[in-house]
Amino acid sequence: MFVKELYAGQRILITGGGTGLGLAMAEALAKLGAEVHICGRREAVLREAVEQLQAVGTAKAVAHSLDIRHPEAVEEMMGRIWAEHGPLSALINNAAGNFISRTQDLSVNGFHAISDIVFRGTFYVTQSAGKRWIASGQSASVLSIVVTWVQTGAPFVVSSAMSKAGVDAMTKSLAIEWGPYGIRFNAIAPGVIPTEGASQRLHPGGYDHDLSKQNPMRRLGHGADIGRLAAFLLAPDNTWINGQTITLDGGDSLANGAYYTHLQDWTDSDWQRARDRIRKRDAIDRAQSPAC
Ligand code: HXC
Repeated sequence: MFVKELYAGQRILITGGGTGLGLAMAEALAKLGAEVHICGRREAVLREAVEQLQAVGTAKAVAHSLDIRHPEAVEEMMGRIWAEHGPLSALINNAAGNFISRTQDLSVNGFHAISDIVFRGTFYVTQSAGKRWIASGQSASVLSIVVTWVQTGAPFVVSSAMSKAGVDAMTKSLAIEWGPYGIRFNAIAPGVIPTEGASQRLHPGGYDHDLSKQNPMRRLGHGADIGRLAAFLLAPDNTWINGQTITLDGGDSLANGAYYTHLQDWTDSDWQRARDRIRKRDAIDRAQSPAC
């Protein structure tokens, strides 16, 4: 579908690029010749991802251990990339956190755990790259991963829904403000593309029903689907697509609307079980994040 070496000479940072959708996009871009930089909280996971990326790509792959909730650490990483590797050509805002919870049960810290990553962290990374691009007069492109619930809303994930809507607003706002500097902003709103991080926090007891049956295309998404769309939207010559959020869900949100409406029927003990499973998963992940 794409010209070989389409991304030769391009340096792209993918936040949360060590796993899931971030890694799928990193892989698609590495295959097309990009130098890919990935950042995330878990060092061992990043190391493995770099090996995987080096195996498929022709340029280098570099990992940065980082929690994007800390603006000074973001700034420090960005300075290091510019000084040791050179300017970024593009940024993919992919890092996210999420878990299902009844909103009335959510603590302030729980709300912040998600919004500090998705809403604030995305801003820190974008501004840190953007001010460097503007200062040097370099054109660039930013792609942010939102979700279909920026259109539909989403019960039981309200911190994520509010934060993703904010990132969607950032995409449109900066497409206008930074367009004159040659910096493009677009977003992808994926539907269900099962990944370990999302499945274990959004469907902690497994999927209640076969979601592929309700999808007009009769399947869920694959990493390659988002990899292809990311490669299209960021393509160096694609300089007139700006300020757009593209839905990538096989038509699911058109046919079925908001996710998680079936959780209205859950009992107190269903919620307790879900919470226990999610917290178990968080503890495993936290044990792998020495930097944070
Ligand atoms: C209620 C919870 C909770 C739960 C955490 N908290 N899990 N509250 N129910 N299930 C609360 C805690 O009690 C605590 O509040 C606060 O959140 C912070 O908890 P920590 O464990 O300290 O969190 P922390 O390690 O800082 O952050 C971890 C995380 C976790 C962000 C909460 O979700 C994570 O690591 N996620 C990364 C991977 C991920 O989520 N991927 C999915 C993205 S999917 P108190 O008050 O007790 O101190 C996505 C969209 C998918 O974004 C779209 C699909 C269609």
